[in-house]
Amino acid sequence: TSVYVLNGPNLNLLGTRKPEVYGTTTLADVEELCREEAAGLDLDLRFRQSNHEGQLIDWIHEAGAEVKAGRCVGAVFNPGAYTHTSVALHDAIEGVELPVIELHISNVHAREPFRHHSYISPVARSIVVGFGVYGYVLALRGLHHAATQK
Ligand code: DQA
Repeated sequence: TSVYVLNGPNLNLLGTRKPEVYGTTTLADVEELCREEAAGLDLDLRFRQSNHEGQLIDWIHEAGAEVKAGRCVGAVFNPGAYTHTSVALHDAIEGVELPVIELHISNVHAREPFRHHSYISPVARSIVVGFGVYGYVLALRGLHHAATQK
């Protein structure tokens, strides 16, 4: 069984971009962290990053099809700034049967007002905010727990 971890725009810059907000861990480090956690949960990790909205939409559709086929538990999704702008990503999640854990490294509610609204939250199963990159571990555990509860 697989699990998707999808990362949106600018997250390829993790480690050097605003380290006071996002820390010094790189996206490669986050992938390693997720790989260890997923292996412990017996999940096959699909870890991806894109700066392109349409690519993220295609991956949401792909993950949704995998869930439908009974091969996937869901997706951890850090949509980056698209969180605050993208009706298209909202519609993509709404259009498939995919449990999505919305994740933000920083506490977006303690930051600029334009980060307080999310187009993703109404269609997310759960939300992990402000735990730094450790949030990815929490989100994977939460998704696994939810999938084994049913
Ligand atoms: C972010 C928060 C967003 O507001 C921002 O645009 C990002 C990263 C986070 O992980 O804290 O790119 O999603």
